[in-house]
Amino acid sequence: MKKIAVVGSINIDYFVESKTLPNFGETVIGDHFFMSFGGKGANQAVAAARLGGEVTLFGSIGNDGQKDVLLSHFKNEKINIEHMNLVENISTGAAVIELHNCENRIIVVPGANQYTNVKYIEQNLDALLQHDVFLLQMEIPIETLEFLIPILHENKKTIILDPAPAQKLSRDLLKKITYLTPNEHEYAIVTDDDRAMNDVLLDYANQLLITCGEKGVVYFDGKEIVKIPARKTDAVDTTGAGDTFSGAFTVAVSEGKPLEECIRYGTYAASLAVTKKGAQSGMPYKQDILDIEIKG
Ligand code: RIB
Ligand code: NA
Repeated sequence: MKKIAVVGSINIDYFVESKTLPNFGETVIGDHFFMSFGGKGANQAVAAARLGGEVTLFGSIGNDGQKDVLLSHFKNEKINIEHMNLVENISTGAAVIELHNCENRIIVVPGANQYTNVKYIEQNLDALLQHDVFLLQMEIPIETLEFLIPILHENKKTIILDPAPAQKLSRDLLKKITYLTPNEHEYAIVTDDDRAMNDVLLDYANQLLITCGEKGVVYFDGKEIVKIPARKTDAVDTTGAGDTFSGAFTVAVSEGKPLEECIRYGTYAASLAVTKKGAQSGMPYKQDILDIEIKG
């Protein structure tokens, strides 16, 4: 099986659940508070590892007391962390997540994630290039992606980019990416193209997969626009659903499955992840997906 490298962010998520949201200058009483593991890079690494992917996580952690908890968490999830960047005098990335009627809004403070920078990539380039499939997101400095993607492309690696949180990327860089997986809101920002979704899809045959939450995933297979419906579930928290899709999709790609099957695998995994609160808590294992493939 091919080796997966996730290069991305690691956060601690601070969830606040509340029926009412405060206005500026106002205080409201919430319902629940909990902390859990998060960060788009870490989430995608966990999703991929639980589904049997051979995963190395390249990223940065601060020294604010979360370090040991995080390192043992990744070890428990069977993620290779030998190249983890341990940064002094800065806090680990943090995300404040407000949950309200099953919807969320998130503020991320990058902290140590800023140090997943060009220097770190240069120092770990040999180790990185020992992997075959690369899974990237946009919670690390944009310069890191602009530096890394051309190198990976030159070395004929498979590159999967989940462009979240979205920022505009150059057409040249986008063309080097094997699979780009924005959601409905992100694709126009990333491609800097505000035409209707179908028109943009046509320009990126077999490359652009737009994830539309409970509506499923759409892409252009070179002949027609294909829609893969999502599996219906009772969602309690969609935080990390996109990350679960990307992680699961990447495992299927690393196993050499056909594109449509990889997408379906991703949607199955995401449909299970949203049934539990917290980004990583509901992420499925291989057997969970086999079960729904059999039972529906
Ligand atoms: O995609 C969900 C993630 O976004 C959360 O875990 C949070 O850390 C933010 O990075
Ligand atoms: Na979840």
